[in-house]
Amino acid sequence: MTGSYRHVSSLAELSVIAASCTECALSEERKNVVFGSGSPDADVLIVGEGPGQQEDEQGLPFVGRSGQLLGKLLLEIDLSRDEVYIANVVKCRPPRNRDPRPDEIDACKPYLRRQIELVDPAVVVTLGNFSSKLLLRTTTGISRLRGLAYEWWGRYLVPTFHPAAALRGGDRVTDDIRADFRLVRMIIDGRISFETPQADVDDVVPTTTQDECTQMGLFGGPPQ
Ligand code: URA
Repeated sequence: MTGSYRHVSSLAELSVIAASCTECALSEERKNVVFGSGSPDADVLIVGEGPGQQEDEQGLPFVGRSGQLLGKLLLEIDLSRDEVYIANVVKCRPPRNRDPRPDEIDACKPYLRRQIELVDPAVVVTLGNFSSKLLLRTTTGISRLRGLAYEWWGRYLVPTFHPAAALRGGDRVTDDIRADFRLVRMIIDGRISFETPQADVDDVVPTTTQDECTQMGLFGGPPQ
């Protein structure tokens, strides 16, 4: 794993470093590094898994079918793609869209960590198992994690299903993402705070309790 990139002071600078990254084997087959896109001052930072074919070709995250659904669901909570920041766990496409391997995720972690530090969002939204398990440091699957807002290093983390799962799984999965995104809307509107999660989120996520909003570590320790 590379260093922390703490010395890098902007997303633009970090993206230049990432553009020539050869820290793992994914660099061998990529067409483009898919660093991230959106507002550098976003309140909401979304973390997917890794680029697919179209993302690899265009160098931008979530531009394929999953991305279209993501954009639609964001608009339903009055957020455009340009207002949020979108990144992935791995910045280069795994061949034939296979799952990213632990060593590849490990090699790419410093980029995501620094992206989160630089954007400094109020809410991190993790899409699917890879980003949710990585950031929450858990082996618990997304079906059990979702539906809650976790207090996470002074911000909120809202895990939800990956839009690709909604494309496969249909309306129920899509509606679950909608419910989680409504939670995101409530957080950025200031209708939920760390002190009072219970009352406000009851109708959206009945299982949320203050005890469940646990402080969890970023990649195994406090941000460096
Ligand atoms: N799926 C992801 O996880 N990320 C992308 O950028 C595209 C599809």
